[in-house]
Amino acid sequence: MEIKTFEPSCLHGAKEALRSAFYHENSSALFNEWEFAEKLPASDGYLPELCVIASDGEKVVGYNALTKARIGSAQGLALGPLGVRKEYQNTGIGSALVKECVKRAERSGFPWIALLGGSYYSRFGFESGKSYGITVSENAFDNEHLQILFLDESVRGKISGRLVYCDAFYDAAGNLL
Ligand SMILES: CC(C)(COP(=O)(O)OP(=O)(O)OC[C@H]1O[C@@H](n2cnc3c(N)ncnc32)[C@H](O)[C@@H]1OP(=O)(O)O)[C@@H](O)C(=O)NCCC(=O)NCCS
Repeated sequence: MEIKTFEPSCLHGAKEALRSAFYHENSSALFNEWEFAEKLPASDGYLPELCVIASDGEKVVGYNALTKARIGSAQGLALGPLGVRKEYQNTGIGSALVKECVKRAERSGFPWIALLGGSYYSRFGFESGKSYGITVSENAFDNEHLQILFLDESVRGKISGRLVYCDAFYDAAGNLL
């Protein structure tokens, strides 16, 4: 297994990996997380070096992206989508994708990474945004899932407000996808 920077030639494989990770027979037709692999490269928040894939030979088996984001006026990054092909899950690939992106973000000098997600992320140092007054919408469920990792400890406690993703994560009416 190898972690590499995403390239346009990997797009089909990246979408398939995300589809395998996120698709459920009973999920809503509106739920299409894998489309982000295509939308992100055209978005205003795309950072090519911070978009990575995991491959097993020629096969793309995982995907993770960090894109530009802000909380209030503070610039940072948002993580996601992160997905690993079903048959490759629980073999360390998700962890490798997160750690590689965190390393690259640190190297690039970004002060924080935020995301919407579950308990998986605490192992990497992500913590709830609640005590810092960080929100993402009016929706309490979304806000419960907002997590942040401080790469620059000096900004801890100094950042609060609404997390705003790059344009690819909103529909035409401005709702978070
Ligand atoms: C979540 C996901 C990216 C993890 O990647 P992975 O390669 O399977 O995970 P790893 O092998 O790095 O880590 C396995 C560990 O994570 C735990 N884990 C896996 N998915 C988890 C989840 N959704 N919530 C909490 N813990 C999770 C496993 O129980 C295992 O724990 P252990 O180390 O204590 O045994 C992957 O399972 C996936 O693509 N899931 C579907 C899509 C998804 O939920 N993406 C994240 C959106 S927020």
